Amino acid sequence: MPDNGLPPFARYRRLRTSTGLRRLVGETKVSVDDFIYPLFITAGENIKAEIPPMPGCYHLSVDRLSEELDEIEALGIPGVLLFGLPAEKDAAGTDAYAENGIIQQAIRKAKRTHPDLLVITDVCLCEYTNHGHCGIVLEDGTVDNDATLELLAREAVSHAHAGADLVAPSSMMDGQIAALRNGLDNAGFLNMPIMAYAAKYSSALFGPFRVAADSAPEFGDRRSYQMDPGNAREAMLEVQSDIDQGADIVMVKPALAYLDVIRETRRITDLPVAAYNVSGEYAMVKAAAENEWLDGQRVTMEILGSIKRAGADIIITYHAKEAARWLA
Ligand code: PBG
Ligand code: ZN
Repeated sequence: MPDNGLPPFARYRRLRTSTGLRRLVGETKVSVDDFIYPLFITAGENIKAEIPPMPGCYHLSVDRLSEELDEIEALGIPGVLLFGLPAEKDAAGTDAYAENGIIQQAIRKAKRTHPDLLVITDVCLCEYTNHGHCGIVLEDGTVDNDATLELLAREAVSHAHAGADLVAPSSMMDGQIAALRNGLDNAGFLNMPIMAYAAKYSSALFGPFRVAADSAPEFGDRRSYQMDPGNAREAMLEVQSDIDQGADIVMVKPALAYLDVIRETRRITDLPVAAYNVSGEYAMVKAAAENEWLDGQRVTMEILGSIKRAGADIIITYHAKEAARWLA
């Protein structure tokens, strides 16, 4: 080696000297194809109201949905994940599985106006129950796991009837994937795939979402059915259990504080892995960027890249629209 040559261990220094080389050796590429954009559908008419802790995200009534879908489709985002805010909530979360429930209306409308856009639905009860829990609550305040399973299956089947393309159960009830698979198969929806919220943590990062969905539990918290943030081995049991029950895609949620869990999930399965870049992760970046405490665009792309690098194939993110614009 000549005296002035680079030592072999400095190899990457040569590979970083131009944009072209950096492109060529870049390992992680975030693409608009990876994104799912969550939407909050609300009862009422002519509503497009910004959600305060989630700037750039809106409550939308069904009659204002198609203009939003036009924008999403034009940006090349493959699909939306629908959450509903019903006109009325009750103890059994009836609107969740009502034939003319808020989400059932939204699905029909979306598939009529935008047949090629994937419509993915959240299957849970907490947006529809007056107590805000993800299932049926017993007198002693605990959640009745098995009674809830039956309602979740009904909810998923009603979404399928309305035309949903993919259902995403998020309640963390034990056996929810098997219950949905059975229910869907018995109703003839053998080809309806299930994206399981497999490793879902009891996280304070859901705070802005609970404001958006008006779904904060009225008493207690979700720690009896969502996972303890410190537990990674338990997450692998949850993921494996959902795979065994028939999940087609497994999800880790939240994303940023759980990149190790995403990586480990990637390692134990060859199924597609999804990660949910949740409302609190979004709100933190937006608030800091708003104050010019950091560069919102660069930080967002770095975060989305880290989720991809950890092993996620699919990223559910409130940044989807702006990121699609930046990537275009
Ligand atoms: C419903 C559900 C929640 C989120 C997705 N589905 C809230 C919760 O479990 O409390 C959170 C999403 C977000 O924070 O962006 N079970
Ligand atoms: Zn829930």
